[in-house]
Amino acid sequence: MSVFKPDILAGQVAFVTGGATGIGKQIARTLGQHGAKLAIASRKQENLEAAVKELADDGLEVWFDVCDIRNPEQVEGTLAGLIQHYGRLDVLVNNAAGNFPAFMDNISYKGFRTIVDIDLLGTYNVSKAAFTAWLKEHGGNIVNITAPFDGMGVSLQAHVAAAKMGVDSLTRSCAVEWGRYGIRVNGVAPGETSGTEGGERFEAAVDMRSGNNPLGRPGTRSDIANAVLFLVSEGAGFISGQIFSVDGAACIDMLKLPPPAE
Ligand code: COA
Repeated sequence: MSVFKPDILAGQVAFVTGGATGIGKQIARTLGQHGAKLAIASRKQENLEAAVKELADDGLEVWFDVCDIRNPEQVEGTLAGLIQHYGRLDVLVNNAAGNFPAFMDNISYKGFRTIVDIDLLGTYNVSKAAFTAWLKEHGGNIVNITAPFDGMGVSLQAHVAAAKMGVDSLTRSCAVEWGRYGIRVNGVAPGETSGTEGGERFEAAVDMRSGNNPLGRPGTRSDIANAVLFLVSEGAGFISGQIFSVDGAACIDMLKLPPPAE
């Protein structure tokens, strides 16, 4: 049961990159359940087809395209196809990302570059293409899915942290440059989130206590999707250029003490 009105995005079109799986699929579902027509893209046709079927079973309208966000020509083609199909674009969620936990000396030069290519340059590619193809003339909302690493050093995630902090910088620059066109740009930084491929890879690599944050539980995909929904809604109409950590206060908890014994 959502706390938001079911029609707050009625008449709008939302595009979620990486929308076929994990957090991206839940973001798409949540935006769709609040009235948006959906577009999703990913590298894998089979994942897209499975997601479209699942979302259609929920009564949601979904258009999809196979797209590697590292390739600007493919991205421009996807945006052109989307605009042709729906005739508009209102919400872009840059969710697609690559991640693997590895110490820096175990990452090849190509491995590091791959993450920067997907997470940072991919976000730039899609934002620029969406701006040029539609948003510049009509306004809209962009939400970049990032990570709650601001100001921190992060073991096993040097490549991801470097890319995502670039994404945060891009979020702020886009908000400043594009505000005059009626475009708001914000970031959502998920902490530990259950039921995600990235999370499972991390759990397999390190022995960390689940729910190790002041709220004492892992986040859910819906926790992340609800934050995105709020940010693209009129309720957030004067919020732009901000990065919202959705992590149960984990990123500001200096000592991370375990709960006291009862
Ligand atoms: N440890 C170290 N290096 C790794 C690695 C790991 N676990 N996984 C990938 N790499 C390196 C590869 O070795 C390769 O470099 P090399 O050719 O010099 O050896 C480089 O990264 C590119 O890997 P490749 O698999 O060829 O690239 P890709 O473009 O097909 O996909 C990822 C790269 C990261 C997207 C892929 O590993 C992936 O699908 N990850 C899952 C996505 C995910 O977890 N999303 C959740 C985001 S939070």
